[in-house]
Amino acid sequence: MSDEDVELEARLEEQEVFEPSDAFVEQANVSDAGIYEEFEEEWPECWEGAADLLDWEESYDQVLDDSNPPFYEWFTDGTLNASTNCIDRHLDERGDEAAIEWVGEPVDEDNVTLTYSDLHEKVNEAAAALRDLGVGEDDVVTMYMPMIPELPIAMLACARIGAPHSVVFAGFSADALATRMNSADSEYLVTCDGYYRRGDPLDHLDKANEGLEGVEHDTDTVVVDRLGRNGDDFGHDLADDQHDWGELMADHEGAEVEPVDRDAEDMLFLMYTSGTTGKPKGVKHTTGGYLSWTAWTSQAVLDIKPEDTYFCSADIGWITGHSYIVYGPLALGTTTMMYEGTPDHPDRDRLWEIVEDYGATQLYTAPTAIRAFMKWGEEYPDQHDLSSLRLLGTVGEPINPRAWKWYYKHIGNEECPVVDTWWQTETGGMMVTTLPGVKDMKPGSAGPPLPGLDVQIVDTNGDEVEPGRAGYLTVNKPWPGMLRTLYKNDERFIEEYWAEYSDTDSSDPDDWVYFPEDGAKIDEDGYITVLGRVDDVLNVSGHRLGTMEIESAIVGVEGVAEAAVVGGDHPVKGEAVYAYVIVEDGQEESDEFRAEIVEAVEDAIGPIARPEQVIFTPELPKTRSGKIMRRLLEDIANGEELGNTSTLRNPEIVEDIRQVVQGD
Ligand code: WT7
Repeated sequence: MSDEDVELEARLEEQEVFEPSDAFVEQANVSDAGIYEEFEEEWPECWEGAADLLDWEESYDQVLDDSNPPFYEWFTDGTLNASTNCIDRHLDERGDEAAIEWVGEPVDEDNVTLTYSDLHEKVNEAAAALRDLGVGEDDVVTMYMPMIPELPIAMLACARIGAPHSVVFAGFSADALATRMNSADSEYLVTCDGYYRRGDPLDHLDKANEGLEGVEHDTDTVVVDRLGRNGDDFGHDLADDQHDWGELMADHEGAEVEPVDRDAEDMLFLMYTSGTTGKPKGVKHTTGGYLSWTAWTSQAVLDIKPEDTYFCSADIGWITGHSYIVYGPLALGTTTMMYEGTPDHPDRDRLWEIVEDYGATQLYTAPTAIRAFMKWGEEYPDQHDLSSLRLLGTVGEPINPRAWKWYYKHIGNEECPVVDTWWQTETGGMMVTTLPGVKDMKPGSAGPPLPGLDVQIVDTNGDEVEPGRAGYLTVNKPWPGMLRTLYKNDERFIEEYWAEYSDTDSSDPDDWVYFPEDGAKIDEDGYITVLGRVDDVLNVSGHRLGTMEIESAIVGVEGVAEAAVVGGDHPVKGEAVYAYVIVEDGQEESDEFRAEIVEAVEDAIGPIARPEQVIFTPELPKTRSGKIMRRLLEDIANGEELGNTSTLRNPEIVEDIRQVVQGD
């Protein structure tokens, strides 16, 4: 490093507030600081602007109907279609421009550019094909697909015919697929034969078929031939209720499907996410509110303009991909990128090569990825011209200031604002983050709530805490993108998100408070630092995993008597899964048995939930009332000093476990 570099590093280390550059501010979609006050004064009418970003078939009567909290309704009696908004209305001006730039795994094959006209054609054909298969309005269609163009095509085809989709992340297990299809009574599945991971073909249909065996009702499956295009094949024969995507599309070549008029409050999709209990929650998002929210935040926070080439490296199987690869960007008529592969194949400069080749203007990724880039070293981004980038974003977990500054400097060349966006599957889109053309940035802190949002940091009584003190993040007013309920389970919806801080007997919306189960603190300027989950949910590489789900997979293994799963700190993943296991009498505590436990977790959930360590222990630390003291198990996993153990029924066990994990 030159002297200049050393000096710069030192300055960055210390700097706590960063201003967006004049060049950015001048061109930003939102640059008027008055927006905060204006939205507060005009709430909830302030959200008309978000709805105005969309084309409505019937305009709405009321912005917000809050007569029956927490079952809020937005843009009541308005009707629209999401596929029209994401495709048809852009055809005149942007028909020949790229809607989706798909970058495949670097196998022997061309990448795919889908213009808005191409996308229109394919979505219509797919919509006609699905309808012919029997898919009707409000039938839930499950998608179990990796990052291939057919995934957004299928999602938008469903939206066109008013069939909600439920996308299951391709890395999830067969069991996870079955659970979700059963829970949603989903009779249709769109999947594919396989895909590539670091150059090697992977058999996906085998896993899908295994999942289908666990589905309790009849199903029809459509199978995309991904590998066949490259001549790879696992030799699957399709069953009678399985149909080849390519054949269906050919049968419906040139078909046009009239988009179904959907009520603003009609379901657009379901997305399952992990909760405290073993059962995943089916988060319901609607057509009008969700689409307005993702379009507005894409414009205000990601600063997306139609002529941009916007790159989000998330997987569409998670909410980030739904909101900020598919719906938000396409609603704005921009070019959105999709990358099938991993950032380290064929080499660790893969993302930077893509940014350079396509001239990406924004990059939205996760702190876990940034920490990996940092570990690999700046020589990888340095090999490429990244000057097309105008804005950087992160999402999924807290970002440590060091990683933030590395991203700002080595990827953004100190010219791109970084938006650290806090939100959740349930919120539909971004909630707490800086408006990049208005606010200064503070590394490590997501920023103030977006205009029009009322976020408070409170103590267990619901009273606001002093700046600097840790508390719980709450949202005190509804917003258009919010989940409407948990699928067919209004009671659990109230229980999970509202009961903690609301007067649930009241019909006054002021008595209802949304609790996302995150800890946070706020500073004197109203900037919020999110500290992490306060429930038994782990955040591994930005992915949300329920400890109960993992535990129930482990206790399902023959020979396991009891298990407790906690998160331990991990330099790249943020958190890693630690499993403490008590074996039954006669069961050997062997490495083979450890492997069996790890495999059971992968089978039940997927490789992302793979335990970093399986620790055999004769007992678990428990309180006198029999509750497992997870905090102590976390401290052990983190190699920390152990806190007070005097309230335990079996304090001596803690030292024994500590010695096994930490050594002496
Ligand atoms: C949980 C939501 C949001 C889409 C991807 C994850 C954590 C998310 C941040 C952030 C600190 C964050 C929270 C949240 N989280 N973004 N910028 N800073 N924590 O969606 O799977 O629904 O998980 O991710 O703990 O509750 P999700």
